[in-house]
Amino acid sequence: MPSVLDPQLRRALAERVRYYHELGIYDFYRREPVAGIRPESALLSTSQPELREEMPARKSAVVATVAEGNIFQVLTPKPEQGITDPVAALKLIREDLGDCTRCKLHKQGRKQIVFGVGNPRAELMFVGEGPGADEDTQGEPFVGRAGQLLNNMIKAMGIRREDVYIANVVKCRPPGNRTPERDECETCSPFLMRQIAVVKPKVVVALGAVSAKNLLAINAPMSELRGRFYDFMPAGARSSDPSWPGTKLAVTYHPAFLLRDPRQKGEAWKDLQMVMKFLGLQPLQKSE
Ligand code: URA
Repeated sequence: MPSVLDPQLRRALAERVRYYHELGIYDFYRREPVAGIRPESALLSTSQPELREEMPARKSAVVATVAEGNIFQVLTPKPEQGITDPVAALKLIREDLGDCTRCKLHKQGRKQIVFGVGNPRAELMFVGEGPGADEDTQGEPFVGRAGQLLNNMIKAMGIRREDVYIANVVKCRPPGNRTPERDECETCSPFLMRQIAVVKPKVVVALGAVSAKNLLAINAPMSELRGRFYDFMPAGARSSDPSWPGTKLAVTYHPAFLLRDPRQKGEAWKDLQMVMKFLGLQPLQKSE
């Protein structure tokens, strides 16, 4: 790596940093480039909830990448490796997680770890941001108000909550429902990647910008992230199952955002219709 940056690249980087500063974002980082990843797949971390869903549209193209974690983590053999029964494999991942103290969330008031729920062989998986108060109490993702809306979205797709698998990027409740921080996401997301690699869904739907940017390692506004499929292969999955081609990933609004701005529900429905078409699902009829 040259120690002196090409002046054009330096200018472009300075411009981008200035742009983020104008948005009030000062904390961002880049994942280590590994095979298949474009170096511009920078991650963005923001503590500003109002930026979490709708960042202003930019002209730059969205970069589709595979999210990869720390390369050493990826290469370490996992207990579930070689286990073909997804129920048993998920159990092993849960056991590996244990009474997790890997990040600071364990000492910030979490009641319990919220691992994931649903059909271990689901064709469709939803990934949220992190547990809220209700989820922390009940130990299950999406059981509060946002969860009720997610249930309705799933029902409208002509399927049941029990048919899908639901998990979050972080498995412990961030205090006051703040956005999970970069280190927390980085520590926890390898477990999510392993869950995805075990369930092997045909489609993963990232709920909201935090989920999308952690899964895809893409820094882009929701307006650019939505409306298309990404080819997605969780970190480490290639070696665990060469026969699995990976999954399609779609991005839609987080149900909590839709509760705050119900006018966007139509847009979210468009995203879900795209997923339904891919999976051959028929929407729930009004009389059903
Ligand atoms: N919001 C999330 O992102 N996940 C949950 O489980 C609940 C609310």
